[in-house]
Amino acid sequence: MPPAHPRLLWRDLTIFDGRHQLPAPMAVLVDRGRIARLCASDALTAADLDGATEMGRGGVMTPGLIDCHTHLVFAGNRADEFARRLAGASYAEIAQSGGGILSTVRATRAASEDELLATALPRLGALMADGVTTVEIKSGYGLTVADELKMLRVARRLGETLPVRVATTLLGAHALPPEYQDDKDGYIRLVCEEMIPAAASEGLADAVDVFCEGIAFSPAQCERVFEAAARHGLHVKAHAEQLSNLGGGALAARHGALSADHVEYLDEVGVRALAEAGTVATLLPGAFLTLRETQLPPVDALRRHGVPIAVATDANPGSSPMFMPTLMLNLACTLFRLTPCEALAGMTANAARALGLTDGGRIAEGLRADLCVWDVSSPNELAYAVQPGRLRQRVFDGRLTDE
Ligand code: NIG
Ligand code: FE
Repeated sequence: MPPAHPRLLWRDLTIFDGRHQLPAPMAVLVDRGRIARLCASDALTAADLDGATEMGRGGVMTPGLIDCHTHLVFAGNRADEFARRLAGASYAEIAQSGGGILSTVRATRAASEDELLATALPRLGALMADGVTTVEIKSGYGLTVADELKMLRVARRLGETLPVRVATTLLGAHALPPEYQDDKDGYIRLVCEEMIPAAASEGLADAVDVFCEGIAFSPAQCERVFEAAARHGLHVKAHAEQLSNLGGGALAARHGALSADHVEYLDEVGVRALAEAGTVATLLPGAFLTLRETQLPPVDALRRHGVPIAVATDANPGSSPMFMPTLMLNLACTLFRLTPCEALAGMTANAARALGLTDGGRIAEGLRADLCVWDVSSPNELAYAVQPGRLRQRVFDGRLTDE
């Protein structure tokens, strides 16, 4: 039996530490699940080398990637809707005619927990093969208490089945289910008075999310959800300013949200609100691409006001059927003009922050060892080329995994 937590040593690495590229060829020693030593390769001591297994030289090391916004658990697919959109129908029109999110709701309600687990496993496997060590997974395709909890249970089981850390988010306020067709407030009451308390008492949700949009819920309705989440000690997040500007980002910030996500239509007032609250802006270039959006997120204003920017896949069957985090690095640069290092920070240090994690997304001594070593020669190269198979080694909780 190999030791539970071996001492692993890498030398001559180019390191992106979650915020910056470090200047010298570096060495990293992992011991008992932690980054025990981070130093220039030529500064290693005999004590560092003692009992360490040599893991190789060269390559780029980054923190394990953190995909901080996904809808990975769902049944069915929306390839027909894809074809309808290509023929001219908009995402909002499809949603209003009972398709879109609601078509995935019908399939997800009909699926058992085991079926949902079986279909989510390969999707998560694809993220892990491309460097993910932490993933956030939202509910939001159940829209009844039982079906939302079913989705969250599947998300938790994914984290127990595979070497990956899963953060779960209750997204009961994602769409209005047909049984509440003329009673949006009644549905919000169900979310606040039954779903959130049930998810909290069963320990199934780490955060609560809302979809603040004309085709979903109003700022006033989202605010009730935020208040209920706070009463149960849960973090909040928001899908905000994706298709229009309703002020959902500023509202989320006022409620101390970890992140406001999409934010293409976020205005200067909203940017300032995020900055003041320390709320992360999570950019989702896969949804921007898939929906052929033209309104760009206010990247310059986010930079000017010092708002941390995260980048995520938004992996879901409708607006972003994409399961490749390094593609998102490329799209965040190509479509939104992030620098490669900004995009990488968006999938490491800032993504950790968007999940309220204090021990992930960075390479520093003492932190948890979730790491990737890539067969590339610079961090820029990771964002530049869209090429599967570049992950040389993946370390989860101090152990090498074989994704
Ligand atoms: O993040 N905006 C709302 N929710 C998802 C889309 C979900 C779906 O279309 O199934 C998103 O884009
Ligand atoms: Fe989403």
